[in-house]
Amino acid sequence: MNLSLPFDVTSGAIAGYAQTERRLSDLPASFADQKALAGLLDAGNPLLYRVSLIEEHNGPGQLHYGMGVLMPGQVGREYFMTKGHFHAWRPAAEVYIGLAGQGLMLLEHEESGECHAIPLSANTVVYVPGHTAHRTVNTGNEPLVYWGVLSSDAGHDYGAVGKRNFRQVVVAQEGKPLVMERADFLAELEAEKL
Ligand code: NI
Repeated sequence: MNLSLPFDVTSGAIAGYAQTERRLSDLPASFADQKALAGLLDAGNPLLYRVSLIEEHNGPGQLHYGMGVLMPGQVGREYFMTKGHFHAWRPAAEVYIGLAGQGLMLLEHEESGECHAIPLSANTVVYVPGHTAHRTVNTGNEPLVYWGVLSSDAGHDYGAVGKRNFRQVVVAQEGKPLVMERADFLAELEAEKL
């Protein structure tokens, strides 16, 4: 049982643990601008993020934890982001600790639909309440690196987010991040086609 693990804050690598890579082709339905998405897939299918999960302590009171490295970039005007998820055990909260870079955590409560975009950057800690979908967004020019720590009983539910996506998007507007309703952004994209 490892009680201390060295990690690399630049690469997100943890000695002895595999990193899972997510490329743009792994998130075909997450981004709004399908034309920009197709162009990036043709141009090489960029790496979006890498995660290392440490899920070796299980049972009542135990913790799982993981390190994420989310690359800078955009799909059209939308910043690179993670797929996002609920916890399978909905009451389970999570703490995210920002280590490097600049970004946002999108939160959306499952029942009330209440949304928040919370800064997640180096030297920032974010509390993700239970019953809340969460997704990280890199709004900066360097990798966004963070730890997440949660109950070993939490589990991950990607399916619910996959079906409905998040209600809000984070897009670049004159070089700065703007949080807007997905429906409004989709309407803008449609208007541009005309
Ligand atoms: Ni989580």
